[in-house]
Amino acid sequence: MPVMNDQLNQSLETILQKPSLHARWLNTLSMLENAGARKIKQCEHPVFVPEDILKHAAEEARHAWFLKKQLKKLGKDLCPTYEAPFIMAPVISSRYLHLLDTRICRYLKQRFGFSGHDLKYAAYLLVTYAIEVRADELYPLYQAALKKYNSTISVNNIIAEEQQHLASMEKQLQKLSPDWKEICATAIKEEAGLYNEWLSAVFAEIH
Ligand SMILES: [Fe+2]
Ligand SMILES: [Fe+2]
Repeated sequence: MPVMNDQLNQSLETILQKPSLHARWLNTLSMLENAGARKIKQCEHPVFVPEDILKHAAEEARHAWFLKKQLKKLGKDLCPTYEAPFIMAPVISSRYLHLLDTRICRYLKQRFGFSGHDLKYAAYLLVTYAIEVRADELYPLYQAALKKYNSTISVNNIIAEEQQHLASMEKQLQKLSPDWKEICATAIKEEAGLYNEWLSAVFAEIH
């Protein structure tokens, strides 16, 4: 996706130069991280939840909070909630994870006939896998822009944790099915369509 990334780099530079826009960008990322944390909590088994899933949910929730803390460096009272005026591409941003989850659940039902908790667990693995792959691309581009502008904001600690999450998801997906590579490729494809739609809407608000 090199063309999109060129445009993203340009947009990130514009975002970084306008504190009000930068605050909305950070708030949007925070909202998405929080949606991820909520999604994990919805998928976890109430009794048999393993420690690594508890850790994952806690870390995604902390990312949401950490981005809110970064946002405060830009000024007072910026983007206090996740209401539409404080979010970039609010409609698309708010349905992004939900749509990905719906499409992946449909695929898992058709492909494996999963239902009940098996479906929840497989969807958790695959949705978070696709999101971690995206995070591992997006956050480093954002961090590079922050560094270029000598920003006091940093997302380096999020990047480190997202890399660990991705490795952990891959390990668990290998146990889920011998066809895990094909399954992951399908999830990546579904996510890429939604991401492109999201990015186009974000670009439209900047230029
Ligand atoms: Fe995260
Ligand atoms: Fe993560």
